[in-house]
Amino acid sequence: MKWLALTFALAAPTHAGLRFGCSTLSIQRLDPVVEPGNAPSAHLHQIVGGNAFKANMTGDVGEQGTCTTCTFSEDFSNYWTAVLYYKHPTNGSYKRVPIYPNAQLSGTGIQGGMTIYYTQVDFNTNGKDKITSFKPGFRMTVGSPATNTLDGGKAHKGLRYTCLQTILTRGAETPDFPTKACPAGIMAIHHFPACWDGKNLDSPDHQSHMYDTTKGGFQPAAPCPASHPVRMPQVAYETMWNTTAFNSLPWPKDGTQPFVWSFEDSKGYGTHGDYLFGWKGDSLQKAMDSTCMFQGCENGKPLKSQNVAAMNKCTIKNTIEEDTEGWLTALPGRAM
Ligand SMILES: *[C@@H]1O[C@H](CO)[C@@H](O)[C@H](O)[C@H]1NC(C)=O
Ligand SMILES: *[C@@H]1O[C@H](CO)[C@@H](O)[C@H](O)[C@H]1NC(C)=O
Ligand SMILES: *[C@@H]1O[C@H](CO)[C@@H](O)[C@H](O)[C@H]1NC(C)=O
Repeated sequence: MKWLALTFALAAPTHAGLRFGCSTLSIQRLDPVVEPGNAPSAHLHQIVGGNAFKANMTGDVGEQGTCTTCTFSEDFSNYWTAVLYYKHPTNGSYKRVPIYPNAQLSGTGIQGGMTIYYTQVDFNTNGKDKITSFKPGFRMTVGSPATNTLDGGKAHKGLRYTCLQTILTRGAETPDFPTKACPAGIMAIHHFPACWDGKNLDSPDHQSHMYDTTKGGFQPAAPCPASHPVRMPQVAYETMWNTTAFNSLPWPKDGTQPFVWSFEDSKGYGTHGDYLFGWKGDSLQKAMDSTCMFQGCENGKPLKSQNVAAMNKCTIKNTIEEDTEGWLTALPGRAM
């Protein structure tokens, strides 16, 4: 409890909010949080972030990475979700949906990837609470591939989809895949829980050490409960799936839509995300204690940042040899 007391002693108004791009690090079947050491893991992921990523990761990841696909060059964390495929309604073949970067980010030419947020309460301000950084070794997941009902999907308030009318559309979120063709693609949104039990870096289900008070849509979250009293950064991912090339291909005739997650979920209820902390030293805490917002946190104010060329240059060798691109007769790892 010693550090909790320290936290309260240092409590001061803070307003920092991070929003930044990360290009794709890898698309492969690995999941060091849910299936450590399993190579391959059950289903395909898109992973962004630091190059220390591998099937099993332990210890202080912030000290292990040598490059990152993210804007902030001291962020060796890894962020991943499942991957979206189009399923041909008559011949059953699958093709991976490409990803494009958020048009609101600084720098152009980011390859695929995700937008990552670390905020306190909402999009415009970060409130006045002390935000405590995650510790080395911290990891968590949100959502579950086992969720297979609409009510189950709705219960995860931070997990939503937006049918993009243009690349700048925001709002109008649904708990399941849009059922109509979306002119600019589908944005998948993952808000993680932000209340920590103050003790455990992980838990057997990778969730019970955290508590979710998220209301979704970057609305102010409810206070943390006594069981999970420590307010951590509100982490969120946005991934822009460019489904437009598939809008002119055949769609199912029964009114359903043709996109499936890589774990064969055609409704989208099972959407989930994984987070593995890896900021170097006290860099994330420094940012959370500052008053910077978004691009204003770059160039040493207070975070070290890098340009898009450096982000895109950071790669890892794929350790799982299998086809994930082109027309596939089965989803990776799900051969019939
Ligand atoms: C991680 O995986 C590699 C490759 O499978 C293995 O050699 C190593 O022993 C594993 N390390 C841990 C800590 O499980
Ligand atoms: C299914 O249709 C697509 C698009 O026409 C085609 O490229 C693919 O090869 C077909 N798959 C099979 C197994 O015939
Ligand atoms: C989405 O894909 C379409 C069709 O392949 C392409 O013309 C368009 O440029 C892509 N959009 C973005 C924002 O990358």
